[in-house]
Amino acid sequence: MKIAVYPGSFDPITNGHMDIIKRASRIFDKLIVAVVRNPNKVSMFTVNERMDLIRKAVAGLPNVEIDHFEGLLVDFMRSKNARVIIKGLRAISDFEYEFQMALMNRKLDPNIETLFMMTNYKYSYLSSSVVKEIGRLGGCIGDLVPDEVVLDIQKKLRSLSSGGQDA
Ligand code: PNS
Repeated sequence: MKIAVYPGSFDPITNGHMDIIKRASRIFDKLIVAVVRNPNKVSMFTVNERMDLIRKAVAGLPNVEIDHFEGLLVDFMRSKNARVIIKGLRAISDFEYEFQMALMNRKLDPNIETLFMMTNYKYSYLSSSVVKEIGRLGGCIGDLVPDEVVLDIQKKLRSLSSGGQDA
């Protein structure tokens, strides 16, 4: 069985992520969307919230699983018997950082390959940070995130901007 892992922060999932998930899930037998728990990075959504949003968005894709990890990605890959990391590339500006990570992951485990998928041009301007900024300031995020999770994301962003606890 060919298993791939699509790792990321997904804080929160966007239509750009969904585009990569749909396309990668057509190529592999199983795609694991892996949410990173990074204690050194402040996230707006908790790991559980991020996983729940992804779960709702991918409900129609039977070969997509949701998981989370902390620590090295290559260790998670080995624990899942997966050898392919999927990464989305939006622009040249993504390349340098992704190139470094791909080479470092290959050094850590030469059996693991990173495959890059070019994002759909429609989403080349889209990022989780932009979604958070627009949502927080009352703009419309309807075209930016999957339909199934628009309301959940808006609710969370509203609760934060009205003084709720960050997670
Ligand atoms: O969505 P992001 O924030 O760009 O995802 C980054 C992620 C999670 C893919 C990256 O930070 C990662 O792989 N973290 C795990 C730690 C690790 O394995 N580091 C070594 C790779 S150079």
